[in-house]
Amino acid sequence: MIRFEGVCKSFGGARAVNEVTLDVARGSLCALVGTSGSGKSTLLRLANRLLEADEGSIRFDGADVTNIPPVELRRRMGYVIQSVGLFPHWTVERNVATVPRLLGWSPARIGERVAELLDLVGLPPGRHARRYPDELSGGQQQRVGVARALAGEPELLLMDEPFGAVDPPTRRGLQDSLMAIQKRTGTTILLVTHDVEEAIRLSGTLAVLDQGRLLQTGTPAQVLTQPATDAVARFFGGPLLGLNRLKALRVGDRAQAAASPDEREPIDMDATLEAALARMVAEGCSRLPVRRLADGTRGVLDLADLVRP
Ligand SMILES: Nc1ncnc2c1ncn2[C@@H]1O[C@H](COP(=O)(O)OP(=O)(O)O)[C@@H](O)[C@H]1O
Ligand SMILES: [Mg+2]
Repeated sequence: MIRFEGVCKSFGGARAVNEVTLDVARGSLCALVGTSGSGKSTLLRLANRLLEADEGSIRFDGADVTNIPPVELRRRMGYVIQSVGLFPHWTVERNVATVPRLLGWSPARIGERVAELLDLVGLPPGRHARRYPDELSGGQQQRVGVARALAGEPELLLMDEPFGAVDPPTRRGLQDSLMAIQKRTGTTILLVTHDVEEAIRLSGTLAVLDQGRLLQTGTPAQVLTQPATDAVARFFGGPLLGLNRLKALRVGDRAQAAASPDEREPIDMDATLEAALARMVAEGCSRLPVRRLADGTRGVLDLADLVRP
């Protein structure tokens, strides 16, 4: 969907993005992670041409972005940033309708789309459509920002620390909504975050940046089990990397066939190993029954399965 090839960008002689090659597949969610100043926001701004690359190329659906007029490009790429930047004197409804209005959609189509999106982001239109941004909580404003970015049916959603400013429980709710939206719409998402948990939880692919360079790409399980460099290992927890690995691996990755029946409530195959460990600790046990292995039989997860390589 979008491919960065040997992309470089400098500010006053300092390389913010250094020879980055990254392919974000259609329909995937790629989390771009790295410490502050590693070039994440710059890379997103290069994608929608808020900035122009010094070297290399960026192809969007096969076409070089420098051949796509910025206005068209930004219509085809939604962009969500931390401070949502809603128009304060416009209602929620009107904010979400910004791009469809620019595109000249009929009022009926706009109305339908706005209602659908507000439902999708968990803001029932009956209650929220006519409110103004300052009548909403930070989390609700962020939801409106996501709805607005999706309104023009973008092919790609660029999100720059979209949930960075909301409290952790609200953030989890927003993450759940985003996962549901992606499942439903199949939109390709490139998400910048420095929140390790968020990246592991949401992404199909992790891309780790450090000082402008891309250090590693892979699934969360791959990156957390085989970090390519010390910097990657440090980013994912350093001495606590092993704990974060439990967030990236699933019960199904480690469960074995059960030798004897166990009547307790089984844990699901797609639960994280972290959730499994939490249950073991809470229940004071070292094994859990697992619901259905691939062949339909019951399985078991032992504490030892969590630590084996
Ligand atoms: N407009 C700019 N002018 C000068 N330097 C910039 C500009 N934008 C970013 N930088 C610098 O580029 C580097 C990468 O910044 P950024 O992409 O914002 O990092 P991140 O989003 O990973 O925190 C930083 O050193 C930052 O100071
Ligand atoms: Mg940034």
